Amino acid sequence: MELPFAESWKIKMVEPIRKSTRQERQQWLEEADYNVFQLRADQVYIDLLTDSGTGAMSDRQWAAMMTGDESYAGARSFFRLKDTISRLTGFEYVIPTHQGRAAENVLFSHLVKEGDIVPGNSHFDTTKGHIESRRATALDCTVDEARDTQLEVPFKGNVDVAKLEKALEQYHDRIPFIIVTITNNTAGGQPVSLENLRQVRRVADKWGKRVIFDSARFAENAYFIKTREEGQQDRTIKDIVREIFSLADAMTMSAKKDGIVNMGGFIATRHEDWYEGAKRFCIPFEGYLTYGGMNGRDMDALAVGLDENTEFDNLQTRIHQVEYLAKRLDEFGIPYQRPAGGHAIFVDASKVLTHVPKEEFPAQTLTVELYLEAGIRGCEIGYILADRDPVTRENRFGGLDLLRLAIPRRVYTDNHMDVIAVALKNVYDRRESITRGVKIIWEAELMRHFTVKLRPAGEE
Ligand code: F0G
Repeated sequence: MELPFAESWKIKMVEPIRKSTRQERQQWLEEADYNVFQLRADQVYIDLLTDSGTGAMSDRQWAAMMTGDESYAGARSFFRLKDTISRLTGFEYVIPTHQGRAAENVLFSHLVKEGDIVPGNSHFDTTKGHIESRRATALDCTVDEARDTQLEVPFKGNVDVAKLEKALEQYHDRIPFIIVTITNNTAGGQPVSLENLRQVRRVADKWGKRVIFDSARFAENAYFIKTREEGQQDRTIKDIVREIFSLADAMTMSAKKDGIVNMGGFIATRHEDWYEGAKRFCIPFEGYLTYGGMNGRDMDALAVGLDENTEFDNLQTRIHQVEYLAKRLDEFGIPYQRPAGGHAIFVDASKVLTHVPKEEFPAQTLTVELYLEAGIRGCEIGYILADRDPVTRENRFGGLDLLRLAIPRRVYTDNHMDVIAVALKNVYDRRESITRGVKIIWEAELMRHFTVKLRPAGEE
């Protein structure tokens, strides 16, 4: 008999988590204005808010922390991090930042100006925010297939090359660079194929443009290339990663995801002019160039994390768990963005809460219902997160309306996945009785989902 699959690690340290009653959760939710970001972590049983900064570090990462060099300038930790990044990506210049959006802020301060257009595949909300706050436009050129959650295609995160070409024909004077997000978080943690990255490179070269990869989940993307793309099966993850970055001019990185650290990020590039330009903004915004917002010890933990998470076994364990949850949802017929993404399952709320009008935010309503059901905290990646159109100030209802269940790395067991699946099934079974959603009573102008205040629709 073939041995079943099991994790490529064992557990050395545990952290207790607590269940609550439905009555408690109802009260906490009201106090939190129906926004799960406003809950206290202790009010959550299984926390799927994000896979960002929530992973479990390995014994080797903890050991590396003890070797951290906290010198203000020229710390050994910086050079260990820089050497690791250069070895993995081929990029010579590295600027640490305190997290991914800080990398965007520093680099875009140099590159993006009013009136610019930045084409790419579903820019993440902070990326979009850093573009739009500079009065520039983030132009989404994702493949149309990503909009149909039930379509099973291997690389749903891809850039539509025809749309990209058209953007360049129309706006080439106003395009400072192209940005490709790997994996494509907003479209459901969907990967981008190596072939697609090569095509983007060809278009960029034709128009003399540079390409940035938003690389928060680049290792998971490499895993999908190895396991799904023709001719890639025999390569190592590190070999694929090297080729991925050979196709880019720079990367912004939220190290809180595939770096498996709790805080950190960086910019890396092969171009001295971009490095020089970004340097000017790193010092005032983040800190001196060899720490840029990170502790020495955290840079050491990150160097080890990057090395570990570009190994096949670690990634296989991770993605196997996400796929396990997907299989459980399949048993119950619960619709999600197919196939399962790298870091999360994105439940298609518009297909679950069919009786809740879009003006009452079905995905946010489903997020609230899942929390009430079992203390599980997911995250709306839908109409609230989409913010308003910066010009018309109308809600943007054009995209998908999803409940994201992001799985932290190396944190929960498959038993927790079973709890999540059954809790969601219980909500799914009573979906027809959920006819009203939520209404906004207060919102911020940009990135409103973090602080938005909501009430049940229909209540005074
Ligand atoms: N790019 C992508 C693709 C991301 O998913 C994120 C963060 C960022 C950039 C910004 O990085 O948080 O370190 O500043 N995503 C988190 C999430 C917040 O939950 O998906 P950051």
